[in-house]
Amino acid sequence: MTTLQEVPEVLAGEANIQGYRDFTLGEFGFRRDEYFVYVTWPTGSHVLSADSFLRALQRDVAWEFFYGIVNFDGVLGTVNHYGTVDLFAGRYNDAYRKAELDHVENFPTPQIKATFEQMLDDWTNQTFDPFAAPRETGSAFGVKNGDNRRAITRRRVAAGRMVGVVDDEKLRSDEVGFPINAHFADVSQDEPEIHPEPGHEGELAAFSLFAYLSRSDVTWNPSVVSACKESLFCPTTEEYILPIIHGNDRVEWFVQLSDEIRWDVEDRDTGAVRAKVVMRPGDVAAMPADIRHQGYARKRSMLLVWENAAGDLPELIATGQMPTNPVEF
Ligand code: PHB
Ligand code: FE
Repeated sequence: MTTLQEVPEVLAGEANIQGYRDFTLGEFGFRRDEYFVYVTWPTGSHVLSADSFLRALQRDVAWEFFYGIVNFDGVLGTVNHYGTVDLFAGRYNDAYRKAELDHVENFPTPQIKATFEQMLDDWTNQTFDPFAAPRETGSAFGVKNGDNRRAITRRRVAAGRMVGVVDDEKLRSDEVGFPINAHFADVSQDEPEIHPEPGHEGELAAFSLFAYLSRSDVTWNPSVVSACKESLFCPTTEEYILPIIHGNDRVEWFVQLSDEIRWDVEDRDTGAVRAKVVMRPGDVAAMPADIRHQGYARKRSMLLVWENAAGDLPELIATGQMPTNPVEF
């Protein structure tokens, strides 16, 4: 028997004078014009630049609301409860909290996802790719001008075991539409040689992660290249600014594979500054479970994000059964 999946209702108005539709989600209202996105809720309102809003929205949608908190900026964002999602304004902002102007609403994941997907589709013009570095995309601004469905619905790489394993994620090449990025022209494209014993052909796999990443067409988009139970290697190539301020609900390890990234690290709940971190090739950082962070990369760089996807971690950490720091010095 086949069952029809219920499609959540999305509340959207007619196109405004600039050609963009308004969206309503609970008591939140969203509207865009040539340059800006305007968000309203019962106790306040907020304005964001359309380009940074769409870059953040793209990631929130593509990552299924990610681990923990996705702050679009210091005011607006989402909290993933893995089944439901909080949409908030000012909840993790000390001044909004003290003035009691913050607002939070919880939605079933399919409902907020459907709304965000339609907003991303309607508000992304054909010239703009929210995953691309600024030097590789046209403008997000202006009146409505077509769409860019190919860019905003990219399939996310998620290896079951490892890239290159039979029936798993494939290697990248010119032929399959992944040329070497101009910033990685010097990266060796040599692949490891594999010599299996007779009878074990097809059971061994190895690949050059540097060559693979040199052909990434997106920025600030960790994707799973290998999985060992809950342990996920999620490398990514970075250029310009991480479009979200990520509030961790677990520890994340960063291994800087090339070039340089600067990180602003703040208290997750108040936004108070905790650290400035500069990571150069070979540097390793354990980002604690109670921080939020945003990265800056002048030149495209390679970062390995190592995640523990275990579903019980947020609860164990929130209840103090697990530490927020994985190492003590
Ligand atoms: C993170 O929040 O840890 C993060 C997100 C996206 C990236 C890198 C790191 O590209
Ligand atoms: Fe993070």
